[in-house]
Amino acid sequence: MSKIATLEIDGKKYEFPITTGTENESAIDIKALRASTGGVTTIDPGYKNTGSCESAITFLNGEEGILRYRGYAIEELAEKADFLEVAYLLIFGELPTKEQLDKFHTDIKAQSHVDEDVKKIIDGFPKSAHPMGVLSSLTSALVAFNPSSVNVDSEEDMYNAIVRILGKFPVLTAWAYRKRVGLPLDYGDDNLGYVENFLKMMFKKPSGDYTTNKVVVDALDKLLILHADHEQNCSTSTVRMVGSSHAGLFVSISAGIAALWGPLHGGANQAVIEMLEGIKEDGGDTKKYMAKAKDKQDPFRLMGFGHRVYKNFDPRAKIIKKSADEVLGDLGVDDPVLDIAKGLEKEALEDSYFVDRKLYPNVDFYSGIIYRAMGIPVEMFTPMFALGRLPGWIAQWREMRLRKEPIGRPRQVYIGENLRSFKKIDNR
Ligand code: CMC
Repeated sequence: MSKIATLEIDGKKYEFPITTGTENESAIDIKALRASTGGVTTIDPGYKNTGSCESAITFLNGEEGILRYRGYAIEELAEKADFLEVAYLLIFGELPTKEQLDKFHTDIKAQSHVDEDVKKIIDGFPKSAHPMGVLSSLTSALVAFNPSSVNVDSEEDMYNAIVRILGKFPVLTAWAYRKRVGLPLDYGDDNLGYVENFLKMMFKKPSGDYTTNKVVVDALDKLLILHADHEQNCSTSTVRMVGSSHAGLFVSISAGIAALWGPLHGGANQAVIEMLEGIKEDGGDTKKYMAKAKDKQDPFRLMGFGHRVYKNFDPRAKIIKKSADEVLGDLGVDDPVLDIAKGLEKEALEDSYFVDRKLYPNVDFYSGIIYRAMGIPVEMFTPMFALGRLPGWIAQWREMRLRKEPIGRPRQVYIGENLRSFKKIDNR
C-alpha cells in the first residue's frame, strides 16, 4: 500500500504521496504543494533535504558508505572495469559488449581533434590562468565550432554529441596544461587507449617520445572511474539545471566545470595538497591544525574531510588511500605529505569533534598525493576531476532531457522591503 504524508497548516490537513525508490529511499512528493495549499512553499537552503529529480544512474547511501553506478558496486568497477566501459555504463545504462565498446572508442577517437582556431583562443589566455577557468571557457567555446544544439529526440544526434565531447575534452584538458607550462599544443595517438592517450597529450615533449608507464595509466584509470559520477552534487546539479533550460550539452558541461572548481567541491583536491604542504612547511604539527579546524573563530577547515551525504567512510577514499600506497611504492616516490595525511586522518577519527559530526576523509583527501606522484601539477588536480566526472555529467544531462524534466526554477521566501515610494536623488 502506498504511504501518505499528512501536513497540517492552520488546522487544515493536506495529504501528499510518499514515493519510494528501488533502494527503499522515501521522499514526500510535494509537486502539488503550492496548488493545494494556496501558495505555501518549502525552504531548504543548500537543498539538504530536497530531492531535485528521480534518477536511475548512481545510488549512494551516505550512512552505510555505499556507492554504485547503475547497480554495480564502485569497489568492483574500480577493480575490474576500465574508464571507457564505466563511461558507457553510466551514459547508456548497461555495460557494453565488446562490439559496443570498440565502436564507442572508435567513434570517440574520430572526434579527438579540435578546430585549429581553438588554438587562437588558448593563445589569448595568460600562462598564469587557472586551467579550470581555461577548460570551462574552451568547453563553452566548442559550441562555436560544432553544432550548437542537440536534437534530443534523435538518438543519433544525442550519441554524436556525446562522443564529440568525450573525444575533444581530453584534448582541451591536456592543452590547458600545456599552455600553462609553455609546451606546444599537440595531439595524442589514436592507437592508444583513452587514458594512455590523454597522458601522452599531457606529457609528450616536442623533442622526445612518450613512454607509457602502466602503473600510471592503471592508477589514473582507477581515479577517473572513482570520480565518474556522484549523483546530484553541486556540479552535476548545475549541469542538469543549465541543461533544463534546453541549453546544449557543451555549455551545460562548461557550467558544471565552473561549479566543480570551488574548494568546497572538486577544488578541494588542490586545497588538500596545499594544506598538507602548508602543514609540512610549518613543522608538521598536525595537532595545531586539528585545533584550528575545530576552532569556530578560525576559518580553517580540514580540507578533504566531511561530506554532505557521507556520514561514514567515503568508499572512494578507502580505495584511493590503498591505491596511494601502491602507486607511490611502485613509482618509488617517497612523499612526506602522505604520512602527514595519514596522521591527520588517524587523529580526526579519534577526535570527538570529527566523530560527533561524522566527518570522514572524502575522495579528495588522498587523490592529490597520487596525482603528484604521477607528475601532475597541483593546479591540474581539479581538471583531472573534471575529466573523470565528464561521463557522469553527460549521463545526468541525457537522463534529464530524455525524462523531459521541466526547467529548474526554485522558489524563494522574500525577506526584503515591502512596497515603498521612490525618492528623487536629492531627497535620499
Ligand atoms: N573541517 C572542520 N569542520 C568541518 C568540516 C571540515 N572539513 N566539514 C564540516 N565541518 C563541520 C562544520 O563546521 C559543521 O560544524 P557545526 O555543526 O558545529 O556547525 C558540521 O561539521 C557540518 O558541516 P557543514 O558545513 O554544515 O556540512 P555541509 O554538508 O554543508 O558541507 C562540505 C559539506 C563537504 C562542504 C564540508 O564538509 C567541507 O567544507 N569540507 C571541506 C571541503 C572538502 O573536502 N570538500 C570536498 C567534498 S567531497 C568531493 C566533492 O564534492 O567534490
